[in-house]
Amino acid sequence: MIVKQTAAIGGGVIGGAWAARFVLNGLDCKIFDPHPDAQRIVGEVMDNATRAFDLLTDAPKPTPGLLTFVDSIEEAVEDADLIQESVPERLELKQKVHMQIDTAAPESALVGSSTSGLLPTDIQAKMMAPDRMFVAHPYNPVYLLPLVEIVGGAQTSTETIDRAHGAYTQIGMKPITIRKEIDAFVGDRLLEAVWREALWLIKDNVCTTEELDNIMRYSFGMRWAQMGLFETYRIAGGEAGMRHFIEQFGPTLSMPWTKLMNVPELDDALIDKIASQSDAQSGMHSIRELEQIRDENLVGFMQVLANSRGGEGWGAGKLLKDYEMRLKAKVANDG
Ligand SMILES: NC(=O)c1ccc[n+]([C@@H]2O[C@H](COP(=O)([O-])OP(=O)(O)OC[C@H]3O[C@@H](n4cnc5c(N)ncnc54)[C@H](O)[C@@H]3O)[C@@H](O)[C@H]2O)c1
Repeated sequence: MIVKQTAAIGGGVIGGAWAARFVLNGLDCKIFDPHPDAQRIVGEVMDNATRAFDLLTDAPKPTPGLLTFVDSIEEAVEDADLIQESVPERLELKQKVHMQIDTAAPESALVGSSTSGLLPTDIQAKMMAPDRMFVAHPYNPVYLLPLVEIVGGAQTSTETIDRAHGAYTQIGMKPITIRKEIDAFVGDRLLEAVWREALWLIKDNVCTTEELDNIMRYSFGMRWAQMGLFETYRIAGGEAGMRHFIEQFGPTLSMPWTKLMNVPELDDALIDKIASQSDAQSGMHSIRELEQIRDENLVGFMQVLANSRGGEGWGAGKLLKDYEMRLKAKVANDG
């Protein structure tokens, strides 16, 4: 299935960035968001996304699609091949929005939800055609980071999951199907574990927010970006590899290091502490400025990874390389 017409329901941080990815990949997008400033906010996201996409690749880019703001969910979805719901993370709201999508969308439309952790079985529960609904959980900024976790609910068809893979691959993404439907899927489970531990380290005055960020970004953050966890630890085991690594470091698991299951209370004192340390660390930059710094750095990583292994590419860089080849081939075929 080739996607041509898309719909973005919700145009906040995530919905605006989905719309940008669609449009920059040559797809038309109708967007609905009742927020009075939605057009300005989406416009700013679109500017940053266009800037990042221009930096990312010299390959011949698709002619941008048309972005149209519409006045209702029904109008947005009526002729869409791919619908992406990105409204706030509340189950009742998501269910209501998906019922509205359900009544107006073409039978063949794919209906993805950006939810970070709600179960697709619950979101699709009140739909008439729930087989076409699934979770497509992206990572911010959606217009640059390629991963999308695909999660089917009890009523999602396998055909839908297959078609969703094709649709997100078409727009340069890396869809990965999560084998079991669990709360928060895989990525957010990992992030939540790190976040809980980080809250304790700040609360207990072990480090500041800036020191914690530096500990990540001067070390294992860079390892994770290019090899993840298991491949990195395989190397850490030396020539004897993974088994040796587990034998050596396995016993530490039973040491009382972690407070993971004991969650710190997010009381006013802890929130004030984190917010004021974060202001001291980053308050000199506006959010849009921080987004641009982040985007330039992500583009740089992906380009370095695209040139890894003598230009063959590695990880997210290999995906970028393949995407560029497809763009070049399209121009060659069209010309
Ligand atoms: N922020 C992230 O990093 C992130 C990452 C991945 C997934 N998500 C998920 O994406 C979804 C959206 O999160 P966000 O961060 O963009 O939130 P957000 O608050 O920035 O945006 C939500 C938008 O939805 C709009 N909205 C509210 N009701 C609506 C309706 N009935 N129809 C259409 N639009 C409506 C709001 O006006 C708002 O602009 C959530 O499910 C969240 O879990 C967020």
